[in-house]
Amino acid sequence: MSTLEIKDLHVSIETENGPKEILKGVSLTVNTGETHAIMGPNGSGKSTLAATIAGHPRYEVTSGSITLDGEDVLEMDVDERARAGLFLAMQYPVEIPGVTMTNFLRTAKTAIDGEAPSLRHWSKDVKSAMEALKINPEFANRNVNEGFSGGEKKRVEILQLELFKPKFAVLDETDSGLDVDALRVVSEGVNRAQEQNQMGTLLITHYTRILRYIKPDYVHVFVDGQVAESGGPELADRLENEGYVRFETATAGA
Ligand SMILES: Nc1ncnc2c1ncn2[C@@H]1O[C@H](COP(=O)(O)OP(=O)(O)OP(=O)(O)O)[C@@H](O)[C@H]1O
Ligand SMILES: [Mg+2]
Repeated sequence: MSTLEIKDLHVSIETENGPKEILKGVSLTVNTGETHAIMGPNGSGKSTLAATIAGHPRYEVTSGSITLDGEDVLEMDVDERARAGLFLAMQYPVEIPGVTMTNFLRTAKTAIDGEAPSLRHWSKDVKSAMEALKINPEFANRNVNEGFSGGEKKRVEILQLELFKPKFAVLDETDSGLDVDALRVVSEGVNRAQEQNQMGTLLITHYTRILRYIKPDYVHVFVDGQVAESGGPELADRLENEGYVRFETATAGA
């Protein structure tokens, strides 16, 4: 079993007016096979947490820790994190002009595994993963995310998830902008990765819709850079009905 442990994490970003603290003491433990949903109002720091786990240079960890099976993740550069088994599906996937999907997937897979995937199996794996996610084969020759629609970009993120087989995945609003069919297809992709690799998942979302397909073991409410409350799946329904008002009044006077 593997464990991703985030302890009392404080993260700042550099702004024109000096450093600004975004994460104010986040603690979360995700074990192999578990799904943790993170919900919370806009601007509460969810993407900041995702980017910090992935190692985005913009985010400065001022205190606290992130460890993967006891290894210090914060000491690892972005590539080392990927090799250690961490995967981030970004809220806004970036375009990589001049690099085809085929080349990107193979290069990334080689970097993550430390060896090139066997040619014979690899092409088959890519083909069947694309079929499962209902991605048109011609996407293999297109440049990564260039001109892809919002929903197409999200599918391609899950394609990577299926091929790279990470231990832990952070999915930042993978459900946003997906049509009903795509939501199901993408959710099935995540569920397959969980079953096949016992993947642990941090699923950031605004909607309970996706949680009908990807069943969370825990739901955490992010408010103002902290986990304000944790609970089971029923907490997601409560948030959908009530919104975040009760948390806002709690922070307003602080
Ligand atoms: N350069 C910056 N200057 C000031 N504030 C910033 C800067 N970059 C990010 N922030 C702030 O950091 C906060 C956290 O942003 P983050 O993207 O993590 O929120 P989020 O919870 O993912 O929101 P959403 O649900 O809208 O995706 C926001 O209030 C954002 O405005
Ligand atoms: Mg976000």
